[in-house]
Amino acid sequence: MIDEDNIFDMPIRQASDFIFNEQVSRVFDDMVFRSVPFYDELQRMTVELACRFAQSGTNIYDLGCSTGTTMCMLSKSLSDQQVHLIGIDNSQDMLAKAEEKIRAEGDPSVCALQFGDLNQEIEVSNASVVIMNWTLQFIRPINRDRVLSAIHNGLVNGGCLIVNEKIMGPNSFLNRVYIDFYHDFKGRRGYSQLEIAQKREALENVLIPYRIDENVALLERSGFSVIDVFFRWYNWGGIIAIK
Ligand SMILES: C[S@@+](CC[C@H](N)C(=O)[O-])C[C@H]1O[C@@H](n2cnc3c(N)ncnc32)[C@H](O)[C@@H]1O
Repeated sequence: MIDEDNIFDMPIRQASDFIFNEQVSRVFDDMVFRSVPFYDELQRMTVELACRFAQSGTNIYDLGCSTGTTMCMLSKSLSDQQVHLIGIDNSQDMLAKAEEKIRAEGDPSVCALQFGDLNQEIEVSNASVVIMNWTLQFIRPINRDRVLSAIHNGLVNGGCLIVNEKIMGPNSFLNRVYIDFYHDFKGRRGYSQLEIAQKREALENVLIPYRIDENVALLERSGFSVIDVFFRWYNWGGIIAIK
């Protein structure tokens, strides 16, 4: 059973930065489904793309794997291929949930979970696919070039990086329009105005979105040769980059 996200439904006196702690990991699957437009479809597309690029004898990384949703789906879809799935996250609470879910719903024999802080260190090697779904936005901007260069270095030729992100609109007017429509989406998913406002404030200093062209430029600087936006919904975007 999935616990309902009601973390921000009561007035919070002292605002503090959002963290992926035990309270969040408990309700995360409900939170992410109600907060990311087309979440289920993007999981499906991620797995479909990953299966197309997976090469036998290589690793597939899920950086910021959270509760292991992508790893579960991938481990079942790739069960007949010789690939090793590695999920990395810097929240022990998320990793504990991921372990539980992979044991219940995935194939634990091909999955490994590792604690790792991408702001400090990143080890990607012999990878045919690297997935970074809604995680680059939490990496400090000063570290993003280093993280993406390390991913590029760790990919085999023909390998790909799949990145989904919250993004900024191209100018402040459209950005505000997109955010309004996004808040309407959250309202339709059952969040109150108070929940939307308090979550927005908590994320203010920790989730730092780039424009789509800034993300593309970052990928180009990191060495990727083919880059394409495969998904766009107002202030959300998905990019695939091939080495
Ligand atoms: C929005 S969630 C990702 C959602 C997940 N990929 C999915 O498909 O459901 C962001 C994840 O990134 C992790 N994270 C944030 N900063 C990180 C860092 N510096 N190093 C490693 N993981 C990080 C968080 O703990 C969280 O689990």
